[in-house]
Amino acid sequence: MSEQQTETAYQLPRIGSPAPDFTANTTHGQLSLNDYKGKWFVLFSHPADFTPVCTTEFVAFQEIYPELRKLDVELIGLSVDSVSSHLAWVRNIEKNFDTEIEFPVIADLDRKVATRYGMIMPEESQTETSRAVFVVDDKQVVRAVIYYPLTTGRNMNEIMRLVKALKTTDEHGAPTPANWEPGDKVLVSPPKTQEDMKKRENEDGLECIDWYLCKQELNQ
Ligand code: BEZ
Repeated sequence: MSEQQTETAYQLPRIGSPAPDFTANTTHGQLSLNDYKGKWFVLFSHPADFTPVCTTEFVAFQEIYPELRKLDVELIGLSVDSVSSHLAWVRNIEKNFDTEIEFPVIADLDRKVATRYGMIMPEESQTETSRAVFVVDDKQVVRAVIYYPLTTGRNMNEIMRLVKALKTTDEHGAPTPANWEPGDKVLVSPPKTQEDMKKRENEDGLECIDWYLCKQELNQ
């Protein structure tokens, strides 16, 4: 099989599909998907070490890392640079920003992980990984995917909001509306039968704009 065929042989991970398996060298030693069994994690790729946008992102990812861990969510970085390069960059970030990078960073020199996770967008760059984010749940299912271009730094508030929204939906079976933030009302899944639709008209605690669009407070 040619290299081109090998790369296209992998389907990009889609929401609801199993997270692709990986074993990789990282700044914390060898790690594989199996090490995250039973844990949520956020896997993100960056184009290259020692570049300006990526450096601001690394500082920002480290800032949200303690909050992610409180939610029992791990964080993993990735680029096609070597472990030595990652280590030198992590040290440089610590020196310049007084910020210790505590999460592992995958050194994907052979692009195996990047290829499996569809992190390389050849039309954007043949040599660098784009800014991809995968949220994977404790059953190792891909729950969300975000892609950003090389030139735009990601919004950490949105990544935190996304993780919290997914966990809230899992816990309470309630979808979340646009711009939802923790503490806001959640949505009620639309009724599936006429009987349910009628019942909903008299249900306490619902704020309904129409039969299919109701919000409610969460009982924390
Ligand atoms: C950056 O992180 O600044 C960057 C990296 C690759 C391409 C463009 C910008």
